[in-house]
Amino acid sequence: MNPPLLEVNSLRTYFNTPAGLSRAVDGVSFALLPGETMAIVGESGSGKSITALSIMQLVPEPAGFIESGTIQFNGKDLLDLTWEQMRSIRGRQISMIFQEPMTSLNPVFTIGFQIREAMLTHGKYRGDAATARAHSLLERVGMNSPDKVLRQYPHELSGGMRQRVMIAIALANEPQLLLADEPTTALDVTIQAQILTLLRDLQRDTGMSMLLITHDLGIVSQVADKVAVMYAGQIVEQAPTRDLLSNPHHPYTQGLIASLPSRSRRGNALFTLEGVVPPPTRWPGGCRFHDRCSKRMEICNTQMPSTTSQGEYRSVRCHLYPSAEAVTSQEPTR
Ligand SMILES: Nc1ncnc2c1ncn2[C@@H]1O[C@H](COP(=O)(O)OP(=O)(O)O)[C@@H](O)[C@H]1O
Ligand SMILES: [Mg+2]
Repeated sequence: MNPPLLEVNSLRTYFNTPAGLSRAVDGVSFALLPGETMAIVGESGSGKSITALSIMQLVPEPAGFIESGTIQFNGKDLLDLTWEQMRSIRGRQISMIFQEPMTSLNPVFTIGFQIREAMLTHGKYRGDAATARAHSLLERVGMNSPDKVLRQYPHELSGGMRQRVMIAIALANEPQLLLADEPTTALDVTIQAQILTLLRDLQRDTGMSMLLITHDLGIVSQVADKVAVMYAGQIVEQAPTRDLLSNPHHPYTQGLIASLPSRSRRGNALFTLEGVVPPPTRWPGGCRFHDRCSKRMEICNTQMPSTTSQGEYRSVRCHLYPSAEAVTSQEPTR
């Protein structure tokens, strides 16, 4: 089997805040194979974006810092690299797109300038080659008149078109890994579907790996090979997408699936998960999900469950699934 392209191990990313230490990402481990797409799903505040920013080493400083863990990319720990070395990986081997493309595009430069600039920074394409590539990238992301778009400014484009431009910029240097953080959340539903299809097609054409971050479990089946469900700074369940959707193990995953609006119910979910993700300065003791869990047992109030494997491709962090083969046995209990 291929070695993973990306392997995150026991990642902890914390913030010093006026309210105390915020353990936003608190022991996250996963691996992504070359050409694989993994979705990270979870409610707002569960630590998804900070996980992606940690990989890019763009955690807001000085409040935020990577407390411990490793982030192996092509077998090398990104956390050992210098700032310069990391800068040359960013935008070249690893690219990232965000929810709101307007904040990533510079309002005073044309689209053409910004796509060429992304290529020049890394020196892979120059001059006429860069212009030609900018043109073909815009075609590839579904722009009808690439020539016109090259001369336009960000505010002249719709939200969906701007996100396509951001995808073109992200792909300009043929990255091996694309981190897509809620790339469709700000868009209309029809445009969302188009952008997801585009991302899936581009991933297949280029063979890159993709980490798709979303709060919407409903969109993962279209794109992701596997899913990691995050809750309160931890991954509580990981499984191939089909297995996770048809047979969720963790009560939190079950709750997320039950609250999906289904077509037969005309868009209304029958079930809503009560409560919210607690603040990361005050994670609950025991299982962090215990106060919202419909299957809570006595032990859940006091002991944090460890992550146990469920066969080769699945794992779950829940006392309902005890196992001799605990994957992470040295977890603190709080
Ligand atoms: N700049 C910051 N300073 C302090 N805390 C932060 C900062 N950014 C994020 N956090 C904390 O990290 C938690 C997780 O954030 P995030 O990864 O953005 O969640 P998600 O993307 O899952 O909605 C947030 O609830 C917040 O408390
Ligand atoms: Mg986020």
